[in-house]
Amino acid sequence: MSVSAIAPPGPPLWLLAEVTYRCPLHCVFCYNPLDFAKTERADELSTREWLRVLREARALGAVQCGFSGGEPLMRDDLEELIAEAHRLGYYTNLLTSGVGLTKERAAALKAAGLDHVQLSFQDSTRELNDFLSHTKTFQLKQEVGETIKSLGWPMVMNVVIHRLNIDHIDRIIAMADALGAEYLELANSQYYSWAHLNRDHLLPTSEQIRRAEAITDEWRAKVADRMKLFFVAPDYHEGKPKKCMNGWGNVFLTITPDGTALPCHTAKMLPGLAFPNVREHDVRHIWFDSEGFNRYRGTGWMKGACVTCPDKEKDLGGCRCQAFLLAGDPAATDPVCPKSERHGVVQAAVAAADAGEVPVRPLVFRDPKASRTLIG
Ligand code: FES
Repeated sequence: MSVSAIAPPGPPLWLLAEVTYRCPLHCVFCYNPLDFAKTERADELSTREWLRVLREARALGAVQCGFSGGEPLMRDDLEELIAEAHRLGYYTNLLTSGVGLTKERAAALKAAGLDHVQLSFQDSTRELNDFLSHTKTFQLKQEVGETIKSLGWPMVMNVVIHRLNIDHIDRIIAMADALGAEYLELANSQYYSWAHLNRDHLLPTSEQIRRAEAITDEWRAKVADRMKLFFVAPDYHEGKPKKCMNGWGNVFLTITPDGTALPCHTAKMLPGLAFPNVREHDVRHIWFDSEGFNRYRGTGWMKGACVTCPDKEKDLGGCRCQAFLLAGDPAATDPVCPKSERHGVVQAAVAAADAGEVPVRPLVFRDPKASRTLIG
């Protein structure tokens, strides 16, 4: 497919700066690549390189910049990066576990112009929060929540939902309300990377999802004046492919710690695609001209059921990473779609969850040792 056959994309509106893969937590659903430990601290982009990326992306039209990781607070230069992003006119977000967000650091980030903090919790109970992250961080997160409120930031709380915590949804929402959250994202786990490895432990039953949605709806009515609730349903159960990243290379640009530019967090695992690096190319070239960003833009690359599907513009064939993980082919129809030849794989996973099957293999926690031994 020639690049010229594709309508020219708009700018990358959303820049996600994954400034490090280092993280004190070991979450079982982490979306960092399984081989994250291959990216050593020495491979991370320098401050000067990040500043250049921020300028280039802003010049291209990016308006929102998320600082993520790993745990972005592991970088000592975060204040400097955020100050520059603010000066350039980005709306800035920090996506954090809260570890390292001391009162002093929070004040410095506020002074640097940080617009908004998204704080993640693993659960509403100390036991499960600390188990899932393999750290004792529950109390600290509560304190960080108070710090965020005291500095006048909007409180955005994020909890990844899965089989092990979904039955606590009522308490999770109550906790967010008590902490004064204005937004709560109840994001059902997406099954990539560590979550894919642990999928058969984490996939909820259909009944759990139905109950959780009903409880969330009840809370929506109760807290409508003070908190917005987002319940992101899992596509495995919905049977509907999602328009992943709002379209490949459409609005979203991720830069990984070593400078690799990706259209989504996990695309680096896709075979047969070379993704450009900001150390070798400027952001304009990466966004408009690189093969990695053009490969799955639009609909011209589609095959199989997608070609004649009336919904192809709506869902763009679903997620390329999921197509690769479940069908072995990134250009296949996403197997969550009932029209996919491989839909049976998804149905079998949901049926196993509904039957209460638990895999023999224990949960794998994200840590550098597992990253090296699992991936080699
Ligand atoms: Fe990579 Fe969906 S997560 S395309």
